[in-house]
Amino acid sequence: MPFIGRESKVVIQNKMLEFIDKLNKVNGRKNIFYETTKYKKIPPLGKYVVDYIISHQQEIIEYINSTEEFQTKKFIRKVVEYSTDKIIATLFNLNQYAEINDEIINKINALYYNFVNEVFNKLRLNQAINLEWINILVIEHQVRLREILGEIDELKIFSKDKKYLDPIPCSEYSAVFQLEILNINVEKICEPVLDVGCGSSAKLVHYLRAQGIKAYGIDRSIEKKSSYLIETDWFEFKMKPNYWGTIISHLSFTNHFKRNHFKKNGNHIIYARRYMDLLNSLKLGGSFFYTPDLAFIEQFLTSDLYDINKKKINNEKLSLMKRKNNMNIYSVQINKLNNN
Ligand SMILES: C[S@@+](CC[C@H](N)C(=O)[O-])C[C@H]1O[C@@H](n2cnc3c(N)ncnc32)[C@H](O)[C@@H]1O
Repeated sequence: MPFIGRESKVVIQNKMLEFIDKLNKVNGRKNIFYETTKYKKIPPLGKYVVDYIISHQQEIIEYINSTEEFQTKKFIRKVVEYSTDKIIATLFNLNQYAEINDEIINKINALYYNFVNEVFNKLRLNQAINLEWINILVIEHQVRLREILGEIDELKIFSKDKKYLDPIPCSEYSAVFQLEILNINVEKICEPVLDVGCGSSAKLVHYLRAQGIKAYGIDRSIEKKSSYLIETDWFEFKMKPNYWGTIISHLSFTNHFKRNHFKKNGNHIIYARRYMDLLNSLKLGGSFFYTPDLAFIEQFLTSDLYDINKKKINNEKLSLMKRKNNMNIYSVQINKLNNN
């Protein structure tokens, strides 16, 4: 068996990461919960992994034989982290309302670790993998993955008898459209500005910054992170009291809050707390602009502390927001008048 050099090793590593990308694309719309009687023999997500490992096993063995054990372990960790990140992005693409907590992330991570580690160990010890062994390992892995994903509340809405899923989309909108919907006058905007759930391309934040406005964005997925675009969950971001001049949430935080409020077993309590944190982090004279509105909680805000302005969004704009035309959706501006 030949020893291979550094460059060849990098090629093999990159191929594996590219394969993970491809796998997520191919399986991105497949329903892991689809129930068929053929399940016993066919892995729910297909045999791509089996085919990849069988056809690439020779080069993986060469990689293992030519690499220090600690380096191989490091690479296994990288594959596992990469696979976990990719599957989470795939799940958010399927349903933007999915909430994936650390416990589930850790379970997915451990599952991938066991799988990749077993494959590498087998190749290192046996210098080969047979089809039956890898088939069983892949089936077990995918069945276990289905069990873990079954714990994610929002994924339960997908029916078990559809092979492919209709995703619940998550769109991003132009800065001008968002400003118009929210009735924000850029010339009068109070700084600093925080866009909560700004979208991965953070269009509004870039637009405001280009006009010299101190704007920041947070989102659980950010394309290009920077000092003013922070990739974080909106529950984890530290909200300083009396700090922001303007907070914006266009079809993001309040949209998720509304869904959790009306959903059976929704997490409305933590959303309500965060909503109050957001108001609390406005400085005096600051404003929170958002859509959709949240009548069920706005009614409890006292008028000596907050001034609330609501404007109905017209049907033409609703259709551009991909909402049903007969829905009553408002954009809201809450001004902070006093501290409590
Ligand atoms: C419909 S998009 C709207 C994006 C942007 N506001 C716009 O109008 O173009 C909703 C955004 O909320 C983000 N999001 C959803 N849940 C989140 C969470 N828990 N923490 C941070 N961002 C979240 C998504 O990643 C997505 O970018």
